[in-house]
Parts: sequence; C-alpha cells; structure tokens
Amino acid sequence: EKERLEIWKASKEVGKVLKSGVTNLRDLRNKCVQALGYADYFSYQASEYNMSTDELMTATRGMIKDIWPLYRELHTWARYELAKKYKKPVPDYLPAHWLPNRWGQQWSELVKVEGFNLDPYLEKQGAEWIVKKSEEFYKSLGFSELPKTFWEKSSLYPVPPNANYKKNTHASAWHIDNDKDVRSLMSVIPNTEWWGTALHELGHIYYYISYSNPDVPIILRSGANRAYHEAFGTMMGMASLQKPFLQGLGMMDKDAKINDTLMLLKEALEYAVHIPWGSGTMTEFEYNLYAKNISPDKYNKLWWELAKRFQGIEPSEPRGEEYCDAATKTHINDDPAQYYDYSMSNVLLFQFHQHIAQDILKQDPHATNYWGNKEIGNFLQTVMKPGASVDWREHLKKSIGQDFSAKPMLEYFKPLMAYLQKINKGRKYTLPEQPDFNY
Ligand code: ASP
Ligand code: SER
Ligand code: ZN
Repeated sequence: EKERLEIWKASKEVGKVLKSGVTNLRDLRNKCVQALGYADYFSYQASEYNMSTDELMTATRGMIKDIWPLYRELHTWARYELAKKYKKPVPDYLPAHWLPNRWGQQWSELVKVEGFNLDPYLEKQGAEWIVKKSEEFYKSLGFSELPKTFWEKSSLYPVPPNANYKKNTHASAWHIDNDKDVRSLMSVIPNTEWWGTALHELGHIYYYISYSNPDVPIILRSGANRAYHEAFGTMMGMASLQKPFLQGLGMMDKDAKINDTLMLLKEALEYAVHIPWGSGTMTEFEYNLYAKNISPDKYNKLWWELAKRFQGIEPSEPRGEEYCDAATKTHINDDPAQYYDYSMSNVLLFQFHQHIAQDILKQDPHATNYWGNKEIGNFLQTVMKPGASVDWREHLKKSIGQDFSAKPMLEYFKPLMAYLQKINKGRKYTLPEQPDFNY
C-alpha cells in the first residue's frame, strides 16, 4: 500500500507544472469562442450537441441519477473488498490510491475471474497482433481493410527507451485531411486494456472512413455527435470480451467455467463506474472552469470535493493548491470540456448493443458473438455513413427506434444489482441515496 501511495503521488506531480498553462488555455479558449458569440467554451462544446449548457448539465446529471443506485452498491462493495485486501478498517470514502486507476475512473481490475485472464494469451501474441486482430474483427463485419497510409503514418507502439523524442502515451485517433488519411497514436503493449483501447481507436478510424464519402460535405465529416464517435469502438471492445466471442476465436477454452456474475461485475466496474467520474467529477469541474471562471486558488479544493461527492473517493492526505490534480488528466489539457462524451457513449453503446444482440444476432446481450456477422457491419455502416449530416436524436430513433436512454444499460446490469444488494446487506452505505448536486 505504501508503494502504491508513492506511485500515486508521483503521478500527480505533473499537475504543478501544468497548472498555469491550464488557466492560460481556459482564458484563451473562452476568449476565442466569445468572439464568435458563445458565452464560454463549455457552452460552445455543448452547442455541438445542439444543446445549451443547462440542457447538457441536465443530461449529464440525469445519467448520474440513473446509474446512482448501482454505483452506490459498487462503491459499498469496493470499500469492503479493498479494506479486506489492505487489512484496514472499512473507510467511508475510497482512498484514491487503493483503486486500480489513478483517477478512479474504472475499477474492473478489482475483479479477477477464474478462467478469464487474457493477459498471458495477448502477451504471447504481441502488440502487433493486437492491432492486426482488431482490424480483422472490423473486416469480419464487412469493413474495408485499413489504408496503407494508416500503417505507414501511425505511431502505434511505445517509444523505444533510447529515442530522442517523447509522445503522449494516451491513445488517440486522427482524421488528418477529413478524407482518407487516418492515423492513430497509441503505445500498445500486449494486455487486455490495450486490446480494448485498440478496438476503441479503430472505432474512430472506421467512423472517419465511413463518412468520408461524396455525400458528406467536408464540414460535416464528424460524428452524429461526439458521443457516437466514442461509442462504436468501445462497444466492439465490450463485445470482444464476451465468452462466446472469445471461445469462437480460440482465445478462451471451450469448456472454461466462468462465473457470469463476476463477469458482469467486472463490466459494471468498467462502464457504470465511469459515469460519476465522467459526468460528475470531470464535467462539473470543467463547467466550473469555463462557465464559472473559478479562480486557480480553488481548483484542487473543487476537484476533490467533486471526487468525494460523485465518486466517493478521497485522497489519503490533503491536496493543497500547490497541486493541480485535475491537470494530471490529459483531457483537461488537450480535449477540453468534452469528457461527458464518454459517459454518453457508454449509455449509447448499451442501446446499440442491445439492438444488435436482440434484433440482429438474436442472442443474449450478455453472451454475444459479433465476429463475422455482416449484418452488424451493414447496420454500423448505415449509422456511421452520414456523419454529422443528420440530427443525432432523429438518427438514433431511426436506427434503433429509441430515444437516448440509460434503460438498456440498467437492464443489462439488473442481475448484478440483485447480487450486490445481497452481498452488501448489513453493510454501511456512505453515499446518499440520491446524488446531491448542491455544492
Ligand atoms: N481512448 C482514449 C480515450 O477515450 C482516447 C480516445 O478517445 O480515442 O480517452
Ligand atoms: N478513454 C477515456 C479516458 O482514458 C475514457 O475512458 O479517460
Ligand atoms: Zn475515443
């Protein structure tokens, strides 16, 4: 635990260096869009969804409310589980350095499921295999081969130790010329997390390719909204870890006995846990940063207030204003005021996945095998092709007959809810029954 804490603290040191830059960027970003008539950069980003800041905040807060009962169970479960692991009294709030991610944004590594560990397999196959196999997965659905320039011009693997340059190790995907020049920056190492990330980035790449067609003018070559852009690749990542898929590809033993409830728990720790972080801590912080112009001497206080309120996470020692823990998250610096895209995409992807499982595959959404299904490919291409030339809500309605809703996600995790309530019976809950937005 001591070592974890040291590492955690080291990972936050960079915030000190970035702090003044973040403030400078905030001011520049606000001034740029104010010159165009927007109130501030947050409202400018929301306008891409055709939403006002208020509408956007109602949507992000709505997602937190929807997921809250499940999150509260997961939070309680994790506190007790981790206290056991670290042989400490059960804390009211999760110490940040106990979690398997330095912002507490995903906790799926807390669960080890017997018979399900892809890491040794992926390590044997290597990093190149991961990217190649990801492409193959998309091709199996009917997507085209990636352009030659993708392979020539992307930077996909870690920088060699003796290189005379650095790169951001956080993955991204780029549409260089709004046409066929598509590239990705990754640092793939052969493990399960990068397997998901490679599929995520290729989701962006195939979206770029799909809407780069003569029917879509250059200026509308982007996602129906930004959440769509994040959703498809993440959905492919989720589907790629389901048992029938893995068994079909020989990545898992045919007769492996997997505990389905633990698998579901693992998925909830990935996709549900992300929402109070993404829509809560990140979005509320950026709302205050851009729309409320908060003063730099309040950044860290606000950051940790939000982490406690929405994620139920606390630092193990006070973090004064000499730090800037928000700035340790790359998006605060280089993907500003749009992190709610990921929350919305998690909600959306369960809507799309439910449609694919039930209406196309006729399989249980918990146990699908997308591989090789051309009908899924056709469906996805139809959704992707028009880019931003459609209204995203109408497009959703047209594609799957639904409005934007967390229902499919909640339905997916329903069996887990019952399980958690049973385990948590008699335990102390420290998060309120309803999320509290008054701060
Ligand atoms: N996978 C990264 C993340 O979602 C980068 C991306 O969005 O492509 O932040
Ligand atoms: N890829 C996003 C991030 O790394 C969302 O999970 O924060
Ligand atoms: Zn992405």
